[in-house]
Amino acid sequence: MKLSWKQGLGVWAATTSCLLLAVWLRYYLTDNGFIKEPNQTYDYIVVGAGTSGCVLAAKLAASNSKVLVIEAGGEPPWYSWIPIVAPILQGSEQYDWRFRTVPQKFAAGALHGNQAFWPQGKMVGGSGQMNFLIHATGSPSDYDSWKVPGWDSHTMKTALDGLTCWTKGIVKPFVARPSFLLDGESEMCRAPVLAENSTSCSENAQHFQCPSAAVKLQRVNATEKPLLKAFLDAGRACGHSVSEMDRWSDTGSFMASHNTIDGKAGQRWSTYSSHLMPAMKRYSNLHVLTKSSVTKLVWRRNKVIGIQYLDADGRIKHVKAGKEILLSAGTIKTTQILQQSGIGPPHVLEPLDIPIKADLPVGENLQDHLQVPLFVELNASVSLNIVKMLHPRQFWNYMVHGKGALATSGIEGIATLTKKREDGKPSEPYGMLILFNMGSINADVYTSVANIKKEVNFDPTFMVEKQG
Ligand SMILES: *[C@@H]1O[C@H](CO)[C@@H](O)[C@H](O)[C@H]1NC(C)=O
Ligand SMILES: *[C@@H]1O[C@H](CO)[C@@H](O)[C@H](O)[C@H]1NC(C)=O
Ligand SMILES: *[C@@H]1O[C@H](CO)[C@@H](O)[C@H](O)[C@H]1NC(C)=O
Ligand SMILES: *[C@@H]1O[C@H](CO)[C@@H](O)[C@H](O)[C@H]1NC(C)=O
Repeated sequence: MKLSWKQGLGVWAATTSCLLLAVWLRYYLTDNGFIKEPNQTYDYIVVGAGTSGCVLAAKLAASNSKVLVIEAGGEPPWYSWIPIVAPILQGSEQYDWRFRTVPQKFAAGALHGNQAFWPQGKMVGGSGQMNFLIHATGSPSDYDSWKVPGWDSHTMKTALDGLTCWTKGIVKPFVARPSFLLDGESEMCRAPVLAENSTSCSENAQHFQCPSAAVKLQRVNATEKPLLKAFLDAGRACGHSVSEMDRWSDTGSFMASHNTIDGKAGQRWSTYSSHLMPAMKRYSNLHVLTKSSVTKLVWRRNKVIGIQYLDADGRIKHVKAGKEILLSAGTIKTTQILQQSGIGPPHVLEPLDIPIKADLPVGENLQDHLQVPLFVELNASVSLNIVKMLHPRQFWNYMVHGKGALATSGIEGIATLTKKREDGKPSEPYGMLILFNMGSINADVYTSVANIKKEVNFDPTFMVEKQG
């Protein structure tokens, strides 16, 4: 039987719709544990169901305490599990707080209003539900510069190493982890870092199984990605080292990106799926309240006893905490809640008539990195673009095998840059390169995503992939 192209398209559309429906049902119908009205009192209240809030809530619930998680956003949309759609969620009115920096005097000159976008997830799963899935362990010199006892790089490395586990390949001792990737290993898991149920690493290695709460990572395969290969070759050609490790090092190097993707399902890995979701199914002492934003902490004399929040209909409500309130609402919202509760510097609180409960430098010393997008034109059909992404074969490959373009985040390579100092040692990292393989046939897409002024005017042909 031979189908006309119209019939073929019909069959494709029907199959795709069924598969999409199946995925939708799988994510929507399995979620439970959400409540409409909270109890009056809990032992612990976790404010913000983002990356850390999900872990904290799961851990506390496992200890039999009564726990309320309160989240300003709602449940994440089903498509947020598809790695490639991150750019759609960022900037969305419903799922992103859509923060902007104040107009900058000395930076962001190419951006509208001299303001940089500052995406922060507003949903269960938080920014972990819409980020670009890059995994990095941090820079030892950062830990040391904090000068907080117990958080120095030596202690942190020992802690992280001890939590590393291997899932495939040869069982290796987990104590020293100079390179935790094995050749021929496409998926690995890291740590029951805060797993509800920490089995030892050697046990996991024997069974070649990730504990469900482990961080699932996927390394981009340079053999399959010509752009990544070119990126690594370029690093080598410029005299940088090319490493197979993730980034526990101050020595700059070029490497394939490790992305937090569950390789089997081709699905975004977030602490919502790994920690909060299973905990909600398992523990009846865990309540999750969505679409409710905390406005401030409630004091009795010098003790915080609860929270005030606006519910989904904008009504002011209160809940008490017998033991503790944990603020995990992100860099900006946590700061705002503290300041609105009277914890902050007088020069911020006094003009707003907020009675000062604690004069602390809350909100000071904010640091962030500026990202400078550089667009390049390619004379070969090697980038990922919307035409390739929407090819029926890609859908099929993703739905059936969890593979292909939709199962990638677009981030293929990472490089940290250091200089050699006079004593021969590397300087602190001064920059980072991210190879983002996302092509477009329309330059406006880039300028709008990056908030770049029209008059900055790239030559549009500069960004267009000529072939393919
Ligand atoms: C990388 O891709 C090549 C070619 O498809 C394949 O032979 C190899 O096994 C892959 N490596 C890993 C680690 O998956
Ligand atoms: C881990 O969880 C499993 C499944 O819930 C349970 O059977 C097992 O006893 C737990 N192990 C530990 C060490 O708590
Ligand atoms: C909520 O209140 C009910 C009724 O008092 C109680 O049975 C239940 O354990 C409480 N749940 C939590 C999680 O606090
Ligand atoms: C693009 O590639 C083709 C074929 O390899 C070559 O003939 C052409 O000169 C290239 N164009 C540019 C602008 O590099």
